Formats: sequence, structure tokens, C-alpha cells
Amino acid sequence: MNIFRNNRAAGRRRGQAPVAVTPPAQPAGAGGRPPDGRAAPPSSDLLVIGLGYVGLPLAREAAFSGLRVVGYDLNADVVAGLNAGRSHVGDVPPADIAEMLARGFRATSAEEEAGDPDTVVICVPTPLSADSAPDLSAVRGAAGVTGRLLRPGMLVVLESTTYPGTTDEVVRPLLEKASGLTAGTGFSLAFSPERIDPGNPDFCIRNTPKVVGGQTPSCADAAERFYGKLCDQVVRARSAREAEMTKLLENTYRHINIALVNEMAIFSHELGVDLRDAIRCASTKPFGFQAFHPGPGVGGHCIPIDPNYLSYKVRTLGYPFRFVELAQEINGRMPGYIVDRAAELLNRNAKPLNGAHVLLLGVTYKPDVADQRESPVRVVGRKLCSRGAVLTYHDPFVEEWRLNGKPVRRAADLDAEVASADLVILLQDHSAYDLDRIARDARLVLDTRGRTEGAHIEVL
Ligand SMILES: NC(=O)c1ccc[n+]([C@@H]2O[C@H](COP(=O)([O-])OP(=O)(O)OC[C@H]3O[C@@H](n4cnc5c(N)ncnc54)[C@H](O)[C@@H]3O)[C@@H](O)[C@H]2O)c1
Repeated sequence: MNIFRNNRAAGRRRGQAPVAVTPPAQPAGAGGRPPDGRAAPPSSDLLVIGLGYVGLPLAREAAFSGLRVVGYDLNADVVAGLNAGRSHVGDVPPADIAEMLARGFRATSAEEEAGDPDTVVICVPTPLSADSAPDLSAVRGAAGVTGRLLRPGMLVVLESTTYPGTTDEVVRPLLEKASGLTAGTGFSLAFSPERIDPGNPDFCIRNTPKVVGGQTPSCADAAERFYGKLCDQVVRARSAREAEMTKLLENTYRHINIALVNEMAIFSHELGVDLRDAIRCASTKPFGFQAFHPGPGVGGHCIPIDPNYLSYKVRTLGYPFRFVELAQEINGRMPGYIVDRAAELLNRNAKPLNGAHVLLLGVTYKPDVADQRESPVRVVGRKLCSRGAVLTYHDPFVEEWRLNGKPVRRAADLDAEVASADLVILLQDHSAYDLDRIARDARLVLDTRGRTEGAHIEVL
């Protein structure tokens, strides 16, 4: 099976005519360059800081659009892999890395090799600290690097998801202090939320409208010009703050609506209502309704984390963001609920959960990606283990899966394992799965994705 099948960029973009880019003028001694006669660093159109799920596709889109791109990442393994033509991001196949390299892309972990870019885009992680507060250390680190590179006329864009005010209150002061330049006059500063949807074969950077918000109107002009080279449509926010809020609104909206259907799934089960059928019927309304579906919880880098950035900021005003906190509570309860339903289903079939052979299908946080970050399946697995279940897992994207530091047995022969397990729990409906066959051959199924039907199948 080719697990990296979403090769959206390959082929289609290979035929694309490169955009002509004029090499930037190099102002002598600008931006604090050492006046010591050393060779000037090589110029580039774009420096991407942070080459992960967000930064690498951006670097690819820019390179395929004809820009000269350099990538900077602290992770030396990531850098060495990319320079050797390997990809660590499922949506960017090695063939695309090869083409990027052929077009002049290079990656580095050395600040002095970051070159002299016209534009810097920061795509570093924005996780939570141990007390669930925003951890902006990577953003600060990237702003430090950028500040040392800054020269007049440069554009700096923050793409990392963060709370409203970060660009102005955190990034701008670091850049201005390091460079002695002022945002809006000396250089341009903007925020542009990344809307990448890993595993989505229909939408990529090019055809997803790109929101930009500038520190000043002229900063927004510069950001609009830059993203106009990579994206079919650029949407201007009133300022960087509105652009920052846009991303958090999008993710919070998803978080809350997923929580809504998850809570409804719990009481619908008790009321004897098929919620998925109600969602299907409601979806026929041509206006005013968007379908969300229940599941075992939320995962990934965005939905479980980003709304915390907003609730943190709201709490600085002296009150909570109640919707987010409620959504977190409901979505966080789902893995435990799945385990309760598994125990109930086994019990109805005269089998205790303790000692039952349970096969987990799909351990990533969404279908058709290898990303396991914040996957609720990990919590499901831990809770099943603590109640005595004997676990096996299968995931076409995950070769090794550990719980509590110990490897869980991977089903080598999926057909045999499906047929022999006391219970199969479908947690992620990867498109590689033959769901009809799984439904036919399994003794009991708990389907958390609503993809199968049958007398021996229980759907969340
Ligand atoms: N993954 C998604 O689907 C997604 C979607 C939209 C927005 N975002 C946001 O984009 C940002 C990046 O997310 P990601 O998923 O690409 O993260 P990632 O972990 O996949 O990649 C981040 C990369 O940045 C590097 N890095 C960390 N600190 C650095 C530093 N100081 N300097 C240089 N490199 C550094 C890491 O080594 C890593 O390779 C986050 O704010 C995230 O919330 C992610």
C-alpha cells in the first residue's frame, strides 16, 4: 500500500510555469550585516523557519512557484533528511523534495546559512506548557533568528497559530530590538494563519484562500503581494489581530461543534435515536447547517490545543471562555465513554472486558495521515489496558505503537486478527480499510465512525 498517496503537488505543478522573480537589490551594510569583508550571504526570496507539517508544504509551494527558498529548522535530522531528498511529512512525497532541491531549495540548521531572504515566514510549533498556558518559546526563538537577519524592506510573516496580539506584542518588539528597524516603515510585519488540512486531497495552499493581516496597511500590502505568488486568493484582514483571531475562530468553531454532536451521541444512544441519521437528514437543509460527526475525541496539533490559546487570552480579561472549556470537557470525556460502550457491548455478549482480545483499528488522529499527535486513541488504549483488555492494533500508517512505554502488538495478518478478536473497535476510518469485509468477518464491532452496519455492530 502506498501510504503517501496524496501526492497533490506532483505532476500538476510540475507543468506549471515558474513565476519570474527579480533578485532583490542588496543594500550595502543594511540590517546589521558585518562590515568585515566576509562574503555576503546568498540571497533568497523566502526563508521558511520550521519545516514541519506547515512549513514544508509552504516551502514546496513557493519553490514550485519559482521562488528561491531556504528552509531553517533546529532539528538536524529533519534538515539532513530533506537535503538528502527524504520527506518526514506525509503530504510531501520524496519526489517533491527532489524537485524542490532541483529548483535550488536547501535546508539548514545553521543560522549563518539562513542567507539573506526577502521574506521570512515563521511556521514553528505553538504547544501548551505543563500548566496548559501558551508556550511561545519557539516563536520567540524564530523571531530572534529573524531579527538578526532583518534588513530594510524585508517582509516577516508569522503563520504559527497563536492568540490575538502575538504578532504585535511578542514578535514585533523582538524584531525591532534586534534590528533597530521599525515595523511598518523599516520592514513589513504580518500574520497569516495556515489552513493546511493534512490528508485532504482537494485543498492545498494554492487553492485555499489565504488570510493576511498586517501590522500596518503597507505591511498588509507586502504580505498580499507575497502570498499572491502562492495562492489563488488572498483575503485581507483589518489587522494582524483579526488574522490571528480568524484561525482561532475556525478551530474553536470545529471544537465546539464536534463537542455538540459528541454530547448528543451520548444521550441519543440512551434515547434510542440514531444521531447519524438525524445528522444526515439535517444536512439536506441547504442553508444554516453544517454537519459534524461524533467520534472518539479530538486530536492533532490544532483542535485540542489552539482554543486554549484563545481561552488563555480571554482569562487575562478576568473571565473564562465558557464555550471552549465546555467543549474541552465533553471532547475529553469521549475516550472514556468509548471504553464504557466497549465494555457494555462485550457484556451484552456474555464476555467481560477484562481478558477480552480487543483489536483497535486506526490510531492516528484523522484518516489517511500518519500524524498521532494528541490522538484520543492513545487514551482509549490506556483505559482499555487498565480494565484488563488484551490489545492488538492495526494502522496502515503506524508501524509501531506504544502505550505506557510498552509496544502494543501490531496485527500482522489483519484478516485473521479481525476474525479472531472478541471485539474490533474502528477508531479511524483510513481509506485503505475494506470496511465491508471487516464488518462481515468480525464477531463484534464498535464503530466510532459510523461507517458500518450489521446486527453484531454497534455504532457510536
Ligand atoms: N499541522 C497542522 O495541521 C497545522 C495546521 C494549521 C496550523 N498549524 C500551526 O502551525 C504551526 C506549526 O505546526 P506544525 O504542525 O508544522 O509543527 P511541526 O511540529 O510539524 O513542525 C515544526 C517544525 O519547527 C521546528 N522548530 C521548532 N522550533 C524551532 C525554532 N525555534 N527554529 C526553527 N525551527 C524550529 C521543529 O523542529 C519542526 O520541524 C503551529 O503553530 C500549528 O498550530 C498546524
